Amino acid sequence: MADAHYTNPRLAALYDPFDADRSDLDVYAAMAAEFGATRVLDISCGTGTLACLLAGRGYEVTGLDPAGAELDIARAKPHGDRVRWICGTAADLPADVRADLVTMTGNVAQVFLRDDEWAEVTSAAYRTLRPGG
Ligand SMILES: C[S@@+](CC[C@H](N)C(=O)[O-])C[C@H]1O[C@@H](n2cnc3c(N)ncnc32)[C@H](O)[C@@H]1O
Repeated sequence: MADAHYTNPRLAALYDPFDADRSDLDVYAAMAAEFGATRVLDISCGTGTLACLLAGRGYEVTGLDPAGAELDIARAKPHGDRVRWICGTAADLPADVRADLVTMTGNVAQVFLRDDEWAEVTSAAYRTLRPGG
């Protein structure tokens, strides 16, 4: 379960204003281009900044996050209508989601505190990736 600052709409609305400089995402966009990816899964996509940026560049993007309040913000962003948003954790990832590249940005790895949680999310990423992805 995500923390209240992600799930409470009034708190989720503060995420982007408090983290306005997203130049940290440039490296992920560069990786997508370098690897020739066409389909990207962004695990724990939050307010969808990377997902929308990539969708605007023509990538087929799936954004996964358990915090519906953040996904509401993400949907309203430019290119948000081109992203497949899934509200849930790795355990909820549908089998039909396929990707060449799986991303986790903004210190997401720190969300997964137990070994079984980390195993679940990395297994889901592996299942989703095409061979060689
Ligand atoms: C620090 S934010 C990063 C959001 C986004 N990736 C970014 O770069 O702005 C961490 C995200 O992890 C999500 N999260 C929390 N628990 C989770 C879980 N069990 N599975 C997947 N995502 C989770 C939160 O809802 C939140 O959006």
